[in-house]
Amino acid sequence: MGFRNRDIISILDFRREELEELFSVVDEMRKNPSAHSSALSGYLMATAFFEPSTRTRLSFQTAMLRLGGSVIDMAEVQRSSIAKGENFTDTIRMLDAYSDVIAIRHKIDGSARYAAEIAENPVINCGDGKKNHPTQAMLDLYTVKTLKNRIDGLNYGILGDLKYGRAAASLILGLALFRPERIYLISPESLRVRPEVREHLENSGVDYVETTRIEDCISELDVLYVTRVQKERFPDPSEYERVKGSYRLTLDILRAGKEDLVVLHPLPRVDEIDFKVDDSKYAKYFLQAKLGVFVRMALLKLILRG
Ligand code: NCD
Repeated sequence: MGFRNRDIISILDFRREELEELFSVVDEMRKNPSAHSSALSGYLMATAFFEPSTRTRLSFQTAMLRLGGSVIDMAEVQRSSIAKGENFTDTIRMLDAYSDVIAIRHKIDGSARYAAEIAENPVINCGDGKKNHPTQAMLDLYTVKTLKNRIDGLNYGILGDLKYGRAAASLILGLALFRPERIYLISPESLRVRPEVREHLENSGVDYVETTRIEDCISELDVLYVTRVQKERFPDPSEYERVKGSYRLTLDILRAGKEDLVVLHPLPRVDEIDFKVDDSKYAKYFLQAKLGVFVRMALLKLILRG
């Protein structure tokens, strides 16, 4: 199908070969970034983040600017016309008229797919509610490939809020495009993966185990992906209070792991990784964020120019 003019809504819209094509463009851009510094000159991206964001918004903006493109950014909701009651459809129509591509984040599941139906130009989903965060999954997979030279055949632990976390869910679905040895889904009972994600793993024949204790599987893991408990998505605040401190990854826990275990996190971190881990050989989450800019550069280039 190719990337040109394509909406990026869910990681499930992609085939493994397409992700591999993307990754090879990322590799090339990393080798020689200056060769691409005007690849998107004359193109304009609109970022419309209806939910808080630091990394994803700035990562996309950085990617566009590094390629010589331009960016317009919708102000936070309180400062934009949404505060006057403008509806979502009108906002998207307007941004579509102004720009060549829209990067959007919204708290409602399915909002990006809806935006893509309205907009003529491509829409990139930067997170819709608890559902999808496809570019995060792309950069997570790319980070694993870069650090481990492969994605297949590894043991993955995905830790934290697997119910409301769209980064975790998207990575799990993305891994199902490859051949992981096994995925350990580590969460409190009440935050286990949603049925549609579990079903997808089963239909894809991925070997997975659900557990509540990191200590039970730490020694098996090649990659440990830690996520934040998604406070803002809990319908019942008392349920959040009950699970919020469930995990705290420390050096002591990591010492039971493999020598070359890699710890990733989509960020922002709250308290699920002890700061002391940051200076250890395991911590790769800041590198992951850095690689994310290159992944988004390659993606924007492929969408807008082919
Ligand atoms: C994630 C998100 O917004 O889903 N953040 C990000 O994009 N890096 C993860 C999170 O907020 O916990």
